[in-house]
Amino acid sequence: MSRTIIVSNRLPTKVQRTASVLSFTPSEGGLATGLGSIYKSDDNVWVGWPGLSIEGEDEQQHVVEQLHADSMRPVFLTDAEIKGFYEGFSNETLWPTFHYFSQYAVYDLTQWETYRAVNEKFCHAVLELAGPDDTIWVHDYQLLLLPQMLRKARPESSIGFFLHIPFPSYELLRVIPWSKELLEGMLGADLIGFHTFGYMRHFLSAVSHLLGATSQNGIVELGNRSVVVDSFPMGIDYEKYATTAASEEAAGHIRQYREALQEVRVILSIDRLDYTKGIAERLKAYDLLLQRHPEWRGKVTLLMVVVPSRDQVAQYQSLKEEIDELVGRINAAYSSITWTPIQYFYRSYPLEELSALYRLADVALVTPMRDGMNLVAKEFVASKEGQQGVLILSERAGAARELSDALIINPTDTIQLAEVMHEALTMPEEEQVQRMESMQALVRQYNVHHWVELFMNRLFYSKNKQLTLAT
Ligand code: UDP
Ligand code: G6P
Repeated sequence: MSRTIIVSNRLPTKVQRTASVLSFTPSEGGLATGLGSIYKSDDNVWVGWPGLSIEGEDEQQHVVEQLHADSMRPVFLTDAEIKGFYEGFSNETLWPTFHYFSQYAVYDLTQWETYRAVNEKFCHAVLELAGPDDTIWVHDYQLLLLPQMLRKARPESSIGFFLHIPFPSYELLRVIPWSKELLEGMLGADLIGFHTFGYMRHFLSAVSHLLGATSQNGIVELGNRSVVVDSFPMGIDYEKYATTAASEEAAGHIRQYREALQEVRVILSIDRLDYTKGIAERLKAYDLLLQRHPEWRGKVTLLMVVVPSRDQVAQYQSLKEEIDELVGRINAAYSSITWTPIQYFYRSYPLEELSALYRLADVALVTPMRDGMNLVAKEFVASKEGQQGVLILSERAGAARELSDALIINPTDTIQLAEVMHEALTMPEEEQVQRMESMQALVRQYNVHHWVELFMNRLFYSKNKQLTLAT
């Protein structure tokens, strides 16, 4: 039977070491949480890195066995590979450039070489596993070279690629000294998917400018083969979020939180610690809200969950310091004995507690500077079934293309953001429900099952068309 081999840098399960004991917990991040809840159907297998340096053979064997039982196949990375490939080229070159933070980007030949070598390592792992009829679905910016490597080894294979982050304008991409190789790497796929039409357009323009390849109606002609390019906005497991938020377990958490929070209104913010998420700007806007609308002092709390992420990368370390300082300053300026303006949590939460927070919140603040999609926005909407609540959403998140009933803001405009928070907190119930219901209809229909089906069908038809044309 043919299977789908999913390949991404991060597996949906991460391995952690406390003292000398290894533990297995769900990974954070949209790719892992989105696909993680459904990949096990149909005998699929997921190949990826378990998120930790594991060098001993016995430990590796233990991890292989544990993950195998959950249809995962680990690719182990050495410390040097984690540094050069993951922290280095992936997160100090590609991540900042693709999110329009080129000023943070590092261009380092050794990191680039390690990136290429680790893509080769993933290629070997996939080739060991994949049969000739299996479909290979590669994900995200850490593996841009992999589709072409696989294509060389298996010219007939059906290979899909999906990018979970924005694809930037060609003017930004061209700054990377290896931009042509990156594009050629992606073009090894039969189908390349992006979250939005805008990202897809940028990709096609880069392909034309940098490689001189022409395209028509989203099909890039490469002489001996063609590659289909399209947008597929990723959805979430709607039922899972709607059901968990309405569960008894979540209700128990909500009662407990409510008791501690008393009557105050809750503005919720949940992100990985990342400069793309606009966390510092959001804090400044909240400060402005308390200055411009002092009536909210004592009556609203910003509940801010920041999930530790990429903490060995310098930019992430300095952002952590900036956020700690801002929270400290705002709390010191406005707190009273009975009220804390910001409740700040630097850790991750399991689904039931996250769902309780979504359900409890009056307003969700999702204000990234750039974000491929942003699944938190959709999870908030799904968790609010039958409830009121307001979503404030950055125009620069992919999700804004779909969730037009959110209050859409420009995340750098802190005055606008402060005023929109006030608007959200005073929005009539009826309007809240009406906006929420229309977003729920959309998130329910275009869920993650729909997304997978659309992508896989498109891959199947593009591949079959090519094979028919070739014979
Ligand atoms: N998340 C989580 N635990 C937490 C906080 C967040 O699992 O404590 C999840 C959240 O539910 C969402 C994902 O992390 O599914 C974040 O995805 P998003 O697309 O919003 O941003 P990304 O982190 O991928 O940039
Ligand atoms: C984003 C990326 C994913 C990544 C996730 C978490 O969602 O698109 O590829 O897995 O962030 O980041 P991490 O570096 O911890 O894998």
